[in-house]
Amino acid sequence: MANPFYITTPIYYVNDVPHIGHAYTTIASDMMARFARMAGREVFFLTGTDEHGQKIQKAAQTEGTDPQVFVDRVSERFQALTPLFHLSNDYFIRTTEERHIKAAQALWNKMKERGFIYKGGYAGWYAVRDEAFYAETELVHGKAPTGADVEWVEEPSYFFKLSAFQEPLLAFYRANPDFIGPESRRNEVIRFVEGGLNDLSISRSSFKWGVPIPDDPEHVMYVWVDALTNYITALGYPDEDAPDFKKFWPEILHIIGKDILRFHAIYWPAFLMAAGLTPPKRLYAHGWWTNEGQKISKSLGNTIDPVELVETYGVDQVRYFLMREVPFGQDGDFSRAALEQRINSDLANDFGNLAQRVLSFVYKNAEAKVPTPSAFEAQDEALLTMAQELLPRLGENFEKQALHRMVEAIWELVGAANRYVDAEQPWSLRKTNPERMATVLYVLLETLRYLAFYIAPIMPQASVKLLHLLGISEPKLHFKELQEKKLQSGVLLPQPEGLFPRIEKERKE
Ligand code: MSP
Repeated sequence: MANPFYITTPIYYVNDVPHIGHAYTTIASDMMARFARMAGREVFFLTGTDEHGQKIQKAAQTEGTDPQVFVDRVSERFQALTPLFHLSNDYFIRTTEERHIKAAQALWNKMKERGFIYKGGYAGWYAVRDEAFYAETELVHGKAPTGADVEWVEEPSYFFKLSAFQEPLLAFYRANPDFIGPESRRNEVIRFVEGGLNDLSISRSSFKWGVPIPDDPEHVMYVWVDALTNYITALGYPDEDAPDFKKFWPEILHIIGKDILRFHAIYWPAFLMAAGLTPPKRLYAHGWWTNEGQKISKSLGNTIDPVELVETYGVDQVRYFLMREVPFGQDGDFSRAALEQRINSDLANDFGNLAQRVLSFVYKNAEAKVPTPSAFEAQDEALLTMAQELLPRLGENFEKQALHRMVEAIWELVGAANRYVDAEQPWSLRKTNPERMATVLYVLLETLRYLAFYIAPIMPQASVKLLHLLGISEPKLHFKELQEKKLQSGVLLPQPEGLFPRIEKERKE
């Protein structure tokens, strides 16, 4: 597990302010970045904003704002998600950064030198909302298959010889069966590539807001060429000897939404091969959220503001819900009732109560100290073994990006610990068998310590708080530490505090 790990989110278009869909992708990536760090891997976690192209230029124009001023302002809204959601990204990239513009141009030159770019003219359909070209045959009732409006574009354009990559891509998918997850998405991509690939228009000449094409500034780069390059800019490209590039490329996991699969699974590896670079190791496409059963869209006015959500429910609560509610890779529905239900049952009742009853019992009845255990009985060993053996299970699910399974597995331990409290009844042992009570409490505190580490990638704040309540004030969040440093008997515990308050239901008259 010690190999380097580079994880990225898509870079977000700044034509619109952040909504829950953006937060979701970044939180999922953050959970994986944190888990990998705890497993001892060297991690580079990247997110950022996609700031060029016709869509952004239009949005700035509509507002009557200079595009640079516009993107600076909206990008800040995305950057504000980092502290808001306790994201641990190592860098926030912007495609208007000078070094990114240089990297995109360098990639272009490389693809051109190697014979994969030629000049021609494009005449066809373009959807500004998707920033995508569509063939006549792809249109559905005069619209893009995504429902976006299309416009007829006819302009001089450079082309990328995508058609030359049909066979190399199919060979690459065959040789790297784990390149695309989930499996169903992989099949979708293979079918599409088997159907044949047309050369791709990769420059625009009817507007200006983009990366200028080297030696032909009448053209700006097609925004997807520019955008995808961000993943290598951040590692120091075009310097392929840059330390981060050497360390992390291509040990990469791109987390994306299912809507941008084609760009990442087809165009991106083809561009990289054209430039003589190895394609990434893996990409994983997650599903889409609806809001109370409806498609989320600005025109419907039902976008979910992540800032409001955190203010109302708390950051860990929102992170937990998003990771737990929907199997990662599938579509799901966001509803406040479901969120409140999860907070009250999974967090307040199951987890919060377990911590609260154990910690306050120790505080009141065991001199607020980690007790000294005697010999463990079978049920004690069983719970502690379950806690230890959870780690490899989490690791297996992490490798498959089965994030919801990771959360579920942790909650199985919560359930087992709650059943253990009920069965062992430390409160009745207090008078009858204080020695046994000490052992039971020790086992429970140890289990809580495991739980505090396991929830750290999902709920970093609650994790640190719980560790503090367990007398570990400066925790090193590392699974090695978890395995090696058992709780020390005699350590004084602070006064317990609740971890997850209940949401009181509004009275319905
Ligand atoms: N700029 C491109 C990505 C370039 S990556 C080199 C882009 N940006 S986006 O802002 O439109 O979308 C970014 C991500 O947000 C996508 O992965 C998309 O799937 C995700 N989501 C947007 N709305 C969403 C939901 N309603 N639900 C879940 N994720 C959604 O595409």
